[in-house]
Amino acid sequence: MTIPRSDATRLLDWYRRNRRDLPWRRSRDSYRIWVSEIMLQQTTVRVVVPYYRRFIRLFPTVRALASARPDRVLAAWSGLGYYRRARHLSAAARIIVGKHAGRFPLRVEDALALPGVGRYTAGAILSIAYGARLPVLDGNVARVLSRLHLVRGADSAARRRRLWRLAGELAATAPSPGDLNQALMELGATVCTPAAPACAVCPLSRRCAARASGLQETIPPSRRPRATVEVRTGVAVVTRGGRYLLRRRSNRDLMHGLWELPAVGRGGRSDGLRLAVGRCVATVRHSITYRRLEVSVHPARLLAEPPRGGYRFVAPADLGRLPTSSLVRKVLAALV
Ligand code: ADE
Repeated sequence: MTIPRSDATRLLDWYRRNRRDLPWRRSRDSYRIWVSEIMLQQTTVRVVVPYYRRFIRLFPTVRALASARPDRVLAAWSGLGYYRRARHLSAAARIIVGKHAGRFPLRVEDALALPGVGRYTAGAILSIAYGARLPVLDGNVARVLSRLHLVRGADSAARRRRLWRLAGELAATAPSPGDLNQALMELGATVCTPAAPACAVCPLSRRCAARASGLQETIPPSRRPRATVEVRTGVAVVTRGGRYLLRRRSNRDLMHGLWELPAVGRGGRSDGLRLAVGRCVATVRHSITYRRLEVSVHPARLLAEPPRGGYRFVAPADLGRLPTSSLVRKVLAALV
């Protein structure tokens, strides 16, 4: 059973009256919608908005993005986290220019073949930009649908399949699938919230099976968050003429290519450097996904010149041009 058309219309009316004025909603340009959807993966609207504005200013078209060096793209992404997304965006832009004449592909199979585009992102972009009848299912939409249809139980593959099916039925009949999908996201983000949902203002509350049973606060069951891991590390701050020594991560991990402060190792050895390391002068906290870092900051002096390649002295004013983790800025801010 899906919701009748009259309820879909009510939901759309609610959305058109209440939607937040977000910069990517002012455009139907598939490039802009694609960029916004990639940024919004794992990141909240509030954090994304300034990054999105700056990114579009730097790379206003897919061709501008395709011809930019991946490092410039990574620099524009600095601080947003999950850096693989920036690499995927660069690679996908080149495919879109090379294979799809510079236009985000219309066919879902072509969209899914792009790096960084999964079922959710393809559904969001194609429905919003082109009006395709494709569903979306992110955490917000899953919560709305599981309350509406009383889909109980903890997260599982079977539960997700069922929710995708329900989302698909809605998208199949909605007058405007892109707006409907965004309405479901918006309802989940602003009204049908995990705790204390605002049922009194919900356009679907009359039809909501969880509310009819008084279960709106217990569906879906809250997931146990991934246990955080405390990590202690230290970084070395080496200065030369007002500039700071940074090293480029070269191992193939998530943060590959980012510039960071050298780590302090045992006996003054540090990422291939020979250093005289001073006492800790500050401690900085930083989170990367489930890791909570406690970073001790040590002034240090070079005992030998850094190896060639992979090291650079950078002035604070030039940091914005390099891909860096926001930890670098936090550490430098702690020193002044
Ligand atoms: N989260 C993912 N996509 C979104 C969108 N288009 N609007 C608001 N939040 C979102």
